[in-house]
Amino acid sequence: MLSVPANRTALDVMRDSDPTTTYSCQQGFCGTCKVKVLAGQVDHRGRAGQADDEMLVCVSRAKSGRVVIDV
Ligand code: FES
Repeated sequence: MLSVPANRTALDVMRDSDPTTTYSCQQGFCGTCKVKVLAGQVDHRGRAGQADDEMLVCVSRAKSGRVVIDV
């Protein structure tokens, strides 16, 4: 389990844990960092298309206390 503090993105924390985590723009445009959401509510940010069960980890945040993603 990874905890994401308010001043960092989920992508930053994921990259600390696994430097091979894929990403590109880090601005929510390209969709490279998109992951499947298994549980929780996401505050969708960014402009790359996201279904309700997807998350752009470079910009989107958790709406619920916890979001479970499939990586
Ligand atoms: S890295 Fe491009 S949308 Fe996240």
